[in-house]
Amino acid sequence: MLIMVYRMIDIHTHILPHIDDGAEDAKEAKKMIDCMQMQQVRIAVCTPHFDPARNSMEKFVAKREKAFSYINNSAVVLLPGSETLYHDLLYQYSELDQICINNTRYLLLELPYSKHWSDRDLECIEKLMNVFRIIPVIAHMERYCFLWKNKKNIRKLINLGCVMQINAKAIIDSKLRKTALHYIEEGLTDVMGSDCHDMSQRYPNLKEAFDIIEREIGIYYCDLLQQNAASIINGKKIRNDGLC
Ligand SMILES: [Fe+2]
Repeated sequence: MLIMVYRMIDIHTHILPHIDDGAEDAKEAKKMIDCMQMQQVRIAVCTPHFDPARNSMEKFVAKREKAFSYINNSAVVLLPGSETLYHDLLYQYSELDQICINNTRYLLLELPYSKHWSDRDLECIEKLMNVFRIIPVIAHMERYCFLWKNKKNIRKLINLGCVMQINAKAIIDSKLRKTALHYIEEGLTDVMGSDCHDMSQRYPNLKEAFDIIEREIGIYYCDLLQQNAASIINGKKIRNDGLC
């Protein structure tokens, strides 16, 4: 029998209504929160999409604030964050604090979906880290071919100080599972999120994935992923060599 002794943190969610392609309205958001609560999720970071080419940071933050106001008496603690798409337009701002996870220095960062990876891309991420003193949490690492198929590139990002986030779906999906578990065991994956958007296709699924991790490679790795999530929301280091 699997025993889930810890209460979970979901680092990547689209619970907030009326802001992106996540929850359609407050009713759906409530259902998502209830679903999370049933899975023992204690804290969820709300990470609506922020595309600097489509929206200003000020407008995004105001919209996010309004979206929070639609949710009353949440059984899960909801923290602010964003899923920010990398773009040179980010440099128009003097700081990115407001879009980081829970006002820490961790920023959930979505990378452009190019087929190729170059040192120039790496330099861009390094520049972002240096200019804003932020720590990128690379969103859903399994979505980028240049990362998923190439461990060297994952290592390059980790060596820079980036944090690697995987979606629970990559564990649940039998086609991705073997690689996903391998990366967790090798320390190439730091944290897991549901990236939930709704209650149909992309529902909250963290427990389902943790149960598989516990069964396949052991509870040690569940604890490790959860400890890392806790460190991120509290603004603490997750690696000795990482920036913080
Ligand atoms: Fe997302």
